[in-house]
Amino acid sequence: MAQDRLLVTDERTGRQYELPIQDGAIHAPDLRQIKTSPEDFGLMSYDPAFLNTASCRSSITFIDGDKGILRYRGYPIEVLAEHCSFLEVAYLILNGELPAQEELDQWVALVKKHMLIHETTKKFLEGFRYDAHPMGMLISTVAALSTVYPDAKNVRDPKTRRKHIVRLIAKMPTITAYCYRHHFGLPYVYPDPDLGYTENFMNMLWRLLEPKYIANPVLARALDILFILHADHEQNCSTSTMRVVGSSLADPYVSVAAAAAALSGPLHGGANEEVLHMLDQIGDVKNIPAYIERVKKGEVRLMGFGHRVYKNYDPRARIIKRTADEVFSVTGYNPKIEIAKELERIALSDEYFIKRKLYPNVDFYSGIIYEAMGFKPSLFTVLFAIPRVVGWLAQWEEMLEDPEQKIARPRQLYIGHGERQFVPIAERKKAAAAN
Ligand code: CMC
Repeated sequence: MAQDRLLVTDERTGRQYELPIQDGAIHAPDLRQIKTSPEDFGLMSYDPAFLNTASCRSSITFIDGDKGILRYRGYPIEVLAEHCSFLEVAYLILNGELPAQEELDQWVALVKKHMLIHETTKKFLEGFRYDAHPMGMLISTVAALSTVYPDAKNVRDPKTRRKHIVRLIAKMPTITAYCYRHHFGLPYVYPDPDLGYTENFMNMLWRLLEPKYIANPVLARALDILFILHADHEQNCSTSTMRVVGSSLADPYVSVAAAAAALSGPLHGGANEEVLHMLDQIGDVKNIPAYIERVKKGEVRLMGFGHRVYKNYDPRARIIKRTADEVFSVTGYNPKIEIAKELERIALSDEYFIKRKLYPNVDFYSGIIYEAMGFKPSLFTVLFAIPRVVGWLAQWEEMLEDPEQKIARPRQLYIGHGERQFVPIAERKKAAAAN
């Protein structure tokens, strides 16, 4: 009968080892017993960019990249996007089960209660230049909340953790709306307790002199769906950052700020902003073939295409494409969708993209919807960060409760000098590298 173990023969010594296989993986520390001598440190695995390394056990999000499957706590993303609200999904991700109506009502009321931000935080935001990038504002402001809530450092206490998880989820839309209005010099709008999470966000963004802001229900639902799609995505770059920073027992505000910083890069959440710049640069359907040639020559990347895990269509992109039509029925058509669809059509029939399994990802169409709704591209990545806070915090809490986890501390393969003779400064020659 097949055993769940790996038999390894070390050809350097002729010794054999049995490594247990659990959940489809070997335990990397088991490799350390493989030595050439008692003084040998033992074998390590080398995996730059973590292409094949599981860093945790998680029961939050499941992805099958080859089949294009995404599930939160076992529920397919398509089903959640169709039937649930964002806060309902947030509850699911954080607690493992969908809420009963009474639980949902209490949860929504709790989040609403914490949407206000401290007036000193408002002043902090006022200090930014009018043209500050909102992602930089968000990262700094979330980190600054750590000074407002010093008890958040007590990360080992489940009750304290939950209090700050609610605060972070509640305050993200408020901070984002303030970043947006700061740019235009508009007075900040306080949250309205009568409104739901997404409608309230729209209220804080766009309310002018009307006594009561009433969000368009189609747009509010579209934004809510986009929030659901972005809520978690297992061990991506920003979530791994959250876990790594959190593993030092840093408080959740600075840990979320670090995760948001990771998200801001153009290869991760920053891609949605880059897609819009790319579509602007292409400008017209007739320019697409020339642009594709540049991509194939390696001069530029097709932003919003490709994914480390999905080697089939990103299921989130499919839902977003459908949502786009509903949004356009209210906002009017965004002609960039034509360029995007044609770009997708050409790319999906081109050998370069087929061979590398490059498909549109979540960021390819989301920016077009955001733009149609009236957002500037600089706000797109912040719109990604608002819901992703839920995933970061759920993963952070899971990490803190996991007895197998410790402070994250990878190894390295040192390839630098051995011990060198010190040379006094007067005797040193200018190094070639400094020229
Ligand atoms: N355009 C053109 N070529 C690409 C692209 C692209 N967008 N993505 C990957 N490739 C090529 C790459 O050049 C390489 O080719 P070769 O084998 O000839 O060297 C091959 O495909 C494999 O690429 P990789 O860089 O090894 O793949 P990766 O898993 O390390 O990178 C990625 C994944 C998402 C960073 C990458 O696909 C990319 O840069 N995409 C554009 C940025 C983007 O849309 N990011 C959003 C990702 S989804 C949301 C999120 O995570 O936030």
